[in-house]
Amino acid sequence: MTIRVLTGVTPSGTLHLGNYVGCIRPAIQKSLTAETESFYFLSDYHALIKCGDADRVEKSRVQIAATWLACGLDPQKIHFYRQSDIPEIPELNWILNCVCNKGLMNRAHAYKAKVDVNESKGEDPDQDVTMGLFCYPILMAADILMFSANLIPVGKDQIQHIEMCRDIATRFNLMYGKGKDILTLPEAMVDAETELLPGLDGRKMSKSYNNVIPLFEGGEKALREAVMKIVTDSKLPGEAKDPDSTSLTVIYDAFANKVEREQFRSALRSGLSWGEAKEIVFRQINKEIAPKRELYNHLMSNPGKVEEILQEGASRIRPIARKLLDEVRDAVGLRTFRTISTNSQTKISKKVVKPQIKQYRENDLFYFKLLSAEGRLLMIGGGLKSGRDNGLLISRFKQEGLSALEGAFCQLEEGIDTTDITTALSQMLE
Ligand code: TRP
Repeated sequence: MTIRVLTGVTPSGTLHLGNYVGCIRPAIQKSLTAETESFYFLSDYHALIKCGDADRVEKSRVQIAATWLACGLDPQKIHFYRQSDIPEIPELNWILNCVCNKGLMNRAHAYKAKVDVNESKGEDPDQDVTMGLFCYPILMAADILMFSANLIPVGKDQIQHIEMCRDIATRFNLMYGKGKDILTLPEAMVDAETELLPGLDGRKMSKSYNNVIPLFEGGEKALREAVMKIVTDSKLPGEAKDPDSTSLTVIYDAFANKVEREQFRSALRSGLSWGEAKEIVFRQINKEIAPKRELYNHLMSNPGKVEEILQEGASRIRPIARKLLDEVRDAVGLRTFRTISTNSQTKISKKVVKPQIKQYRENDLFYFKLLSAEGRLLMIGGGLKSGRDNGLLISRFKQEGLSALEGAFCQLEEGIDTTDITTALSQMLE
């Protein structure tokens, strides 16, 4: 069976160079080489939790889809779709809501962080906490379990959600699986190699720090302007510079090979000006990004094409979702009424009556009797002092027949011969 890799990207803003280096580029590289079945999707239902601005959600969905395609995602090789195009997901979400304990969600860190902030401000702890935010890990579990995904590449902040998904799936399987694991337990895959790109000021590149370099938005001009803003010290041209004193070098590294990295460092040590260094960094990034940007711009001016790709992605995998959901609905008792009478009939016809062995005790000795399927007494055996030994004798009798009873009490009923006993034993073991 091929391993299924699944991950979601929430479209609630535009992407920056940190997303590209840390997530998009490695994910696409892996998808081209690995022998896995990949599911990449826009978690647009999740976007509604973070962002109440409809126009922004709309814009971000198309931007992010176009970004992934422009960066080389091959929709023929990877299932690429929007969460909101798979109605089976919210349906599964509801069923999972009904097996997930509230206490588990109380521990979710995104929700807890919000409550902490509210409390520290002396406000109502639940201020601005929607049910969407509170139940967010359950929706994420539905995304994952819907396609029986095995591996979930995520950032460290998401590990807890994968654990919760496993908890929910385990509980569902125990409650409804009748010994079968209907839902597959996923594993988080946190890539230690994934580079964390620093931003303009050296801290992790993140929108919340306002230190990002845009990936495509604003074109070449915006990219250049952002690179020029990378913080350095005030050493003059000609002065020796420490390559590790600025995030400029780390950002360059993410787009350069080993030789180029060394050359850049040594040029800085020998007095390259910061201005020239930034120009080099800009050109290096742009070399990789420019062709992708062109494709991005093309897709952004043809959003209908992106729509088509996503629709096709969804229709290709909906049968997988449907199949699992049918199984889940059946397991929880949401079944069609048409088959009810048939079901109860099969139950009756399935109940086959077999010969039986019953143990009993008489005058401090342990015996057993063999009864036919119709309840007729066939024989009595045993007569041992210990119930345990009698039990062992029965097991041997079941397997070996009458020969196991040598040395023990054994009495066939009138009209019963040894073949009757052998037949009864083999019927019992059927
Ligand atoms: N919650 C994830 C994030 O914010 C996105 C996401 C939604 C996701 N559903 C998922 C990731 C399922 C992995 C698997 O980054």
